[in-house]
Amino acid sequence: MQGKKILLAVTGSIAAYKAAYLTRLLLKAGAEVQVLMTEAATAFISPLTLSTLSKKRVFTQVSSEQEWNSHVELGLWADAMIVAPATANTLARLAHGICDNMVAAVYLSARCPVFFAPAMDLEMWRHPTTCTNVEKLKSFGNHFIPVGFGELASGLTGEGRMAEPEEILTCLDHFFQKEIDLTGKKALVTAGPTYEPIDPVRFIGNHSSGKMGVAIAGELARRGAQVTLVLGPSRLSAVHPLVTTVRVTTAEQMHKAATACFSSMDIAVLAAAVADYRPTITASEKIKKSETALSITLEKTPDIAATLGKMKKAGQFIAGFALETNDELKNARDKLEKKNFDFIVLNSLRDKGAGFHLDTNKITILFRDNKRKDFELKSKLAVAVDIVDEIAAALKKL
Ligand code: PMT
Repeated sequence: MQGKKILLAVTGSIAAYKAAYLTRLLLKAGAEVQVLMTEAATAFISPLTLSTLSKKRVFTQVSSEQEWNSHVELGLWADAMIVAPATANTLARLAHGICDNMVAAVYLSARCPVFFAPAMDLEMWRHPTTCTNVEKLKSFGNHFIPVGFGELASGLTGEGRMAEPEEILTCLDHFFQKEIDLTGKKALVTAGPTYEPIDPVRFIGNHSSGKMGVAIAGELARRGAQVTLVLGPSRLSAVHPLVTTVRVTTAEQMHKAATACFSSMDIAVLAAAVADYRPTITASEKIKKSETALSITLEKTPDIAATLGKMKKAGQFIAGFALETNDELKNARDKLEKKNFDFIVLNSLRDKGAGFHLDTNKITILFRDNKRKDFELKSKLAVAVDIVDEIAAALKKL
């Protein structure tokens, strides 16, 4: 935590009293803490207490008669934001982008990872509205620190207690420790679809948005790797300074860009949905509609994964993907072998919430020693963390 800049957003729950101890723990661990409070939180703990402990002014309002506070600057300043305690009201507000207080304004401006430590009564925590809001916030890539079980302010016993400050500190600490484990490594990521032109206005393509691959590129960079992202046609971009993006359109171009840099890479993650076939001939003018059927002859595109699998040297690691609709495990294992991957990430269109375009994915990782690891449905950002965790662990054994 040494030198980390933490935004601590305190909202209106009785657990707000724990924010004082959390502030102390963060400071003792070497972090700089900037406290934000909702007005409701100030009824539970005084801003004076938190400003005295953090040695910084506490922000409670975006603007007052005296001044205007830059929520954008705060959002950009932080290495992490932690909302603790996070009430049902704040979860609902942030899940829906309602921006009517300082905490919400900073949350919407934050580029850093955001953690929530919810605190509320048992029934509120279990309510379908809260569950939906939590899932929504998770799907945006936010992290949730599990609630505790025990006596609640209402006198009831159950789930809903805010995690203890020590637990919150451990979560943040673990997160930042992971951040630096790939420093000095070079990684290639392919992402997005490819478009294979039929004529100047039409192409053969697929539904890939690039979300999965861009999330992996971002996570590798966040953990210190220098990333080359070879990205097919996608509206997305990776904003991390350690990511260099090479934009391509066709499988041929993606193949050229990936093979050109692969020899200097430690890691390759092949998340692109590359067209397997392309028209043998691309018409130079728009093909006109006629009364008869139209046949287009297709030829195979270069298999990027297979080429890199053949080029792979000792010390290099390749993670491939398999998008399947049937016989998932068998097909994925075949690809793992054929393409000489070190592991393969299987996602199936038969799993609800998995695959193209969505913000979520559900994966199984298959390893060369026949082992497999199944993961729950998660946001693609969280899936990227799982995949990079597995790569980092495997690299240590190479
Ligand atoms: O982009 P999103 O909307 O977020 O969707 C994510 C995703 C579904 C595209 C992603 O999770 C995924 O599964 N990517 C791989 C899709 C795919 O084309 O799988 P495949 O089973 O056809 O290919 C197997 C592997 O070979 C993949 O690593 C693929 O990148 C690679 N390949 C395939 C053909 C080819 N010519 N060259 C390749 O490198």
